[in-house]
Amino acid sequence: MNRQRIVAGNWKMNKTFDEGRDLALSIVKRIGPIETLVILCPPFIHLNYLASVTKGIANVRLGAQNCHFENSGAFTGEVSALMLQSIGVEYVIVGHSERRAYFAETNELLAKKVDAILSHGMHPIFCCGEKLDIREAGTHLEFVSQQINDSLFHLSKKQFSKVVLAYEPIWAIGTGKTASPLQAQEMHAYIRSIIAAHFGDDLAFLTTILYGGSCKPSNSKELFSQPDVDGGLIGGASLVAEDFVSIVNSF
Ligand code: PGA
Repeated sequence: MNRQRIVAGNWKMNKTFDEGRDLALSIVKRIGPIETLVILCPPFIHLNYLASVTKGIANVRLGAQNCHFENSGAFTGEVSALMLQSIGVEYVIVGHSERRAYFAETNELLAKKVDAILSHGMHPIFCCGEKLDIREAGTHLEFVSQQINDSLFHLSKKQFSKVVLAYEPIWAIGTGKTASPLQAQEMHAYIRSIIAAHFGDDLAFLTTILYGGSCKPSNSKELFSQPDVDGGLIGGASLVAEDFVSIVNSF
């Protein structure tokens, strides 16, 4: 058994309803019968409609960009994991660096979100990654290890087997500056090694680890050819159907 390759599009806070519908239809139309799993992660307003667009299409799944860990209650402006699951969402991005930076999300809070997502039968796409100063100080491996340890290592093996990881060096997100294939490979191999040390070699081997940060058609092939890079979490380039599908097809 090989691990699942995934290309996920993180639309962030982009696309009106009509624009989102057109983008999703245009992506779905272009995707052939491939083994790579394609996950569309639009803003909340698109999810219900896109559930009808992606339903029944092999290898295309729906993902949300965030959720609350409680099922319901007085949390104005929030959307729960339970609600997402009720419309057919299967993946939820957790701990994106923009949420950590702008919404003060901590490793401890993210652990609760991971639990909520798993308890509703969905898959967390757990993001980790360091800022430039941490990389320059040479402590990036320890930093990422701490993020994973604090938010994921309380899980059972069975729970962890549902988790997708995404390494996203913050200095590469939306900056046009991509990690080199070797930098990505080094971190991905390291992440796999700490998973192996905690959960065992078999589970580590099967864990999908995505790269994110200025991934585009011109560099995706080389990034995805690294042995421990199992696909990408794509921001900017996921907003243009041709570019996104070209990245999907770069395996
Ligand atoms: P980017 O974003 O591809 O625009 O750099 C990636 C991400 O933040 O997930």
